[in-house]
Amino acid sequence: MAREITHEERGPFVLDESDQGDDGLIYVCRCGLSDSKPLCDGSHNATADEKEGVVYKYANDDADGERSEIGEIDDDCEE
Ligand code: FES
Repeated sequence: MAREITHEERGPFVLDESDQGDDGLIYVCRCGLSDSKPLCDGSHNATADEKEGVVYKYANDDADGERSEIGEIDDDCEE
């Protein structure tokens, strides 16, 4: 599984102690769907049933948006 996300930021975001969760850890979003990027907000739960080998697009890059299958991952593709 994979998903297409549109990123508009052009630079880094600096994390500090205020970004720590109650357990003292900082959870960085890797699914691309968080509304609190770069921090995880739990939106990744929407990806739990994504199928291997499929590329998805979520409407408005929102975990609650309509999910569409937009392609397949070609593991045999070499550049
Ligand atoms: S990893 Fe993206 S919201 Fe948690």
